[in-house]
Amino acid sequence: MSQYDTQVAIIGAGPAGLILGHLLSLAGIDNVILESRTRDYVEARVRAGVLEQASVGLLDLVGVADRLKTEGLVHEGIYLQFNQQRHHISFGELVEGAVTIYGQQEVLKDLIGDRVRHEWPLIFGAEVQVIEDVGSAKPTLRYRDKDGDHEVTASFIAACDGTHGIGRSSIPSMRTYNHDYPYSWLGILADAAPATDELIYAYSDRGFALYSMRSPSISRLYLQVPSTEDLTHWSHSQIWEELSLRLASTGFEVTTGEITEVGLTPMRSVVSTPMRHGHLFLAGDSAHVVPPTGAKGLNLALQDALDLGVGIIHAIKGRDYEDLDGYSDRCIARVWQIQRFSNFMTSLMHLNYSADEYQRQLQRADQRGVSISRAEATSLAERYVGRPLDDRARSISKWFV
Ligand code: APR
Ligand code: PHB
Repeated sequence: MSQYDTQVAIIGAGPAGLILGHLLSLAGIDNVILESRTRDYVEARVRAGVLEQASVGLLDLVGVADRLKTEGLVHEGIYLQFNQQRHHISFGELVEGAVTIYGQQEVLKDLIGDRVRHEWPLIFGAEVQVIEDVGSAKPTLRYRDKDGDHEVTASFIAACDGTHGIGRSSIPSMRTYNHDYPYSWLGILADAAPATDELIYAYSDRGFALYSMRSPSISRLYLQVPSTEDLTHWSHSQIWEELSLRLASTGFEVTTGEITEVGLTPMRSVVSTPMRHGHLFLAGDSAHVVPPTGAKGLNLALQDALDLGVGIIHAIKGRDYEDLDGYSDRCIARVWQIQRFSNFMTSLMHLNYSADEYQRQLQRADQRGVSISRAEATSLAERYVGRPLDDRARSISKWFV
């Protein structure tokens, strides 16, 4: 078995692991990213694509926002539609700020491309199988790749290894809060020019639909389906038919085109706490999952990684451990705020199959609220666009070498 030492060992080349690795490398801190899948697989995985302003600011801070700035679509609002009545939530009027539509896999391509160009260590096909001694000053992990077994010792291990990763099982006395929703999203990617300038979240008596996009010629659309749904029951023409029924509004037509990908996204919420044990830290989906309504998963993963990156940089470069000691508490507080928002957006927009008439009327009251009350619309807008990158984050550029 080969053995080597690094300052930070990062498990997973998703958004959390890659941005953390970037921050550390820019600060001159040795780190290696170990990813069980291939580069092609990671770069092709289709996920959500809404970047909050802080996420754009962070990608800019680490120098990987060039393509995002030219190809990303800046949206200053969204449409909420309730039974054919469309309401515009204008971020520009209600709060300052905007979101940028740019696919998660495009973010990953940019981060991986930059990392490879710099020759910062990133190993694909490397599956971490054991994490040990996390309570000691030199925790260890073992991974296997095409060349055999390897052992890495590090000052810190960051498990950015997603929902099925190995990191979470190494945190003793972890408490996990789970919630499953009785529906999933059937998502399609289509070669079709979007028929809308901004995203449309539509509630209808047939269920929820979302009109999103990836570029001026690619649409991304979703349909709420029961969680037991079998994809083979849906022909492409049925999918378009259902989308046009749920998104129907006066004078509006969904543009159809060739469907290039169909998939199911289950809806669930998970929060695991704490996100640290000794020198092992969790970031992103390894510690929490939000339902996709509002597209917060990627943004939350980037926020964790930024928070952890700042803490590790202060610890290693500044010999100041206080920041890192507050990591788990800061993350968990933020995660619950985002859980609250994602759950609110989900309950507001989806057909609750088992609701009684009382619950349906409450949902209608919430839908009316965001349509007629500026205060309620402002609250939604503020949480949708998120806050800009704060000074604590910006200040770490002083450590960049
Ligand atoms: N060894 C090495 N790599 C691993 C291991 C392991 N034992 N287990 C998991 N991984 C890798 C996965 O293959 C995956 O590429 O860790 C990576 C985790 O990446 P993500 O699942 O993208 O998680 P994260 O970086 O937290 O980003 C969360 O991605 O799932 C979406 O909607 C979610 O947008 C959110 C974002
Ligand atoms: C997407 O484009 O994939 C998307 C957009 C908005 C959401 C969720 C997903 O709320």
